[in-house]
Amino acid sequence: MSRIDGSLALQDVVKRFGNTEVVHGVSFDVADGEFVVFVGPSGCGKSTLLRMICGLESVTEGEVRIGGERVNDLPAARRGLALVFQSYALYPHMSVYQNMAFGLENLGMPKTEIQARVGEAARMLRLEEYLQRKPTALSGGQRQRVAIGRAIVREPRIFLFDEPLSNLDAELRVGMRAELVDLHRRLGTTMIYVTHDQVEAMTMADKIVVLRAGRVEQVGLPLELYNNPCNRFVAGFIGSPRMNFLEGRVVDGVIELPGLGVVRTRARLPAGGTPISIGIRPEHIHAGHQADNNLTGAVAGVEQLGGLSYVRLAGPDITIQIPGQTRLAAGAATPIHFPAGAIHVFDADGLTLPRQTP
Ligand SMILES: Nc1ncnc2c1ncn2[C@@H]1O[C@H](COP(=O)(O)OP(=O)(O)OP(=O)(O)O)[C@@H](O)[C@H]1O
Ligand SMILES: [Mg+2]
Repeated sequence: MSRIDGSLALQDVVKRFGNTEVVHGVSFDVADGEFVVFVGPSGCGKSTLLRMICGLESVTEGEVRIGGERVNDLPAARRGLALVFQSYALYPHMSVYQNMAFGLENLGMPKTEIQARVGEAARMLRLEEYLQRKPTALSGGQRQRVAIGRAIVREPRIFLFDEPLSNLDAELRVGMRAELVDLHRRLGTTMIYVTHDQVEAMTMADKIVVLRAGRVEQVGLPLELYNNPCNRFVAGFIGSPRMNFLEGRVVDGVIELPGLGVVRTRARLPAGGTPISIGIRPEHIHAGHQADNNLTGAVAGVEQLGGLSYVRLAGPDITIQIPGQTRLAAGAATPIHFPAGAIHVFDADGLTLPRQTP
């Protein structure tokens, strides 16, 4: 059997509900077999995009292509996709087996084929011993695995996940993340995964699509977005604790941070007087003095996690990440410094300024 093409392309997709436009021309490509995560704050249009891809919502303008074929007018049932969402939507009166088999029975699939598919999905998801139980007798994580199993047995060409782990507690989420990544490796099927949790995005994705207010901000590999965010929004959204931002202006080829000092960067700076902001990740700021880019801060709080420590400074408002444990304590003043190469520089519109080529 030849493999079905599970590639996906969105081109200039617009969505309006009545007169309200919520998706403003979104384009990106997903290769067959890729694990792509849509990430962005609440209300940015993640679920709406997913619903347009799977056919639960019409596309106002633009084109959705699956396996190279335009599907704007193809009914959801004929797109060959499976959607798993946050509320598992299991049938409470049916057993785990029946929950997984139900959709296939409706398609008139032979019983032996159904048994084979449900058995295989149950094996992959470690649900074999629960097949005769009702969903109410399962834990949250097991219920979510049943919902995923129901998607697997349909052998979709693309899996769509809409925040599937957000009902689970923190520990279970971490475990399920790894299970989903593993499942993807074994199945090799395209997966689109929606979350507002950037840690989930960073740890699971082959490729991340960062969305904000109905627009794509940046598409890239997780570490590409981390190392080279194209604007201040992506810089602040990806990474935890968040990147530190300081406001300043250009003076004589350096950046003056009013009341704090002067910093040198590798960015190609605009003319003197231009307002500008800089961003530095917590792990790139070091306590102590060095030749360049020194500031002084008052320690406002310290969090010791054992293996690493977070030090919060006030004026400037900055968080530093220190490997290991620290002697710094609230109330102290500390010098800090950071290398020029670690500084991200943003113009007044929030766009990242390119670096000078050496
Ligand atoms: N049926 C609808 N009618 C009108 N507006 C809608 C409809 N569905 C969604 N919207 C609006 O579209 C925007 C995007 O919603 P969407 O549910 O796609 O966001 P989301 O990124 O999934 O958010 P969340 O992270 O909270 O789930 C929101 O402003 C929302 O209010
Ligand atoms: Mg949503």
